[in-house]
Amino acid sequence: MSEPVIDVEGLEVEFPRYGMPPVRAVKGLDLAILRQEIVGLVGESGSGKTTLARAIMQLVPPPGRIAGGRIRFEGQNLAALDPERLRTLRGRSMAMVIANPRSELNPLLTVGQQIGNVLKYHTGLGGKALRKRVIDMLKEVRIPDPERRYDAYPHELSGGMAQRVVMAIALICEPRFVISDDATSGLDVTVQAQVLELLQRLVEKHRTAMLFITRDIGITAHFCDRVAVIYGGEIVEIAPRASFFANPVHPYTVLLLAAFSHNPRLRSYWLKEAEPATDTRPAERGCPFAPRCVRAQPHCRAEHPVLRELAPGHFVRCHYPVER
Ligand SMILES: Nc1ncnc2c1ncn2[C@@H]1O[C@H](COP(=O)(O)OP(=O)(O)O)[C@@H](O)[C@H]1O
Ligand SMILES: [Mg+2]
Repeated sequence: MSEPVIDVEGLEVEFPRYGMPPVRAVKGLDLAILRQEIVGLVGESGSGKTTLARAIMQLVPPPGRIAGGRIRFEGQNLAALDPERLRTLRGRSMAMVIANPRSELNPLLTVGQQIGNVLKYHTGLGGKALRKRVIDMLKEVRIPDPERRYDAYPHELSGGMAQRVVMAIALICEPRFVISDDATSGLDVTVQAQVLELLQRLVEKHRTAMLFITRDIGITAHFCDRVAVIYGGEIVEIAPRASFFANPVHPYTVLLLAAFSHNPRLRSYWLKEAEPATDTRPAERGCPFAPRCVRAQPHCRAEHPVLRELAPGHFVRCHYPVER
């Protein structure tokens, strides 16, 4: 058993609110990712995915703050590192790819300059060697005609090409941990498939650990080694891919799967039941999903469920998981 690349333990992230208790965006979250492992993280908008990603990168926007827990990268507690050390780690050893690539790119610099600057900053490489390494990277993310694209400006690129450039920037230093935060959602289906294939290939080649955040549970079926579902800042189900898709047990997971699935059993399960409640606010007490859950019992509104292991590696946070 190798040591995890990233190990999150009991993480709490809060955003203060004026005259109200803080928003607890991430609540007591545990997650470890191994070398060459892709963990998919699925959840609806506002469930805490980006906040988790930023916390791991130590980039929670103030006045938000990490209020508890620990994040270790290759055994080092990130909170204990000085800012200089952290800057070196970010970009070089861990990197993040986000959606909306255009906002990530500097419109005044060419593609080659932007990728090259990152490499120069972290490795001190320069001149012909730098240029060669950047062009190799452009080839690696399958940008056609890399010699010419090296001198292109961001506005000259299509959305798919811009996303590849952002990936090249994230990956140029061969980080050992990568977060992709909804990075493929703005792309059309064909381009998205190409980008995913590319990410998968790079993970294999460099044995990278990866947290792949998405709102589309369907993508994780082809792409991830394990899948986690986050709801109201908590992981409610996590399992190896095969177990996750063969035996989803959290009612919310089943709902998510039914929403995209063509599987008649899953669809009819939800169509037969009453419409889920429209109140989407997590409950203050008990199970956060209880207000929307068609299976909820009085007990669910009273007691917060813990994450428990139902099958090897398959964990669920539910008092009444869906029977197999
Ligand atoms: N900068 C911020 N200031 C205040 N609240 C925030 C901020 N960022 C996120 N939140 C809150 O944290 C929760 C989780 O948000 P986020 O992590 O962006 O979710 P997701 O990425 O899953 O859509 C939401 O309730 C959101 O309103
Ligand atoms: Mg987000």
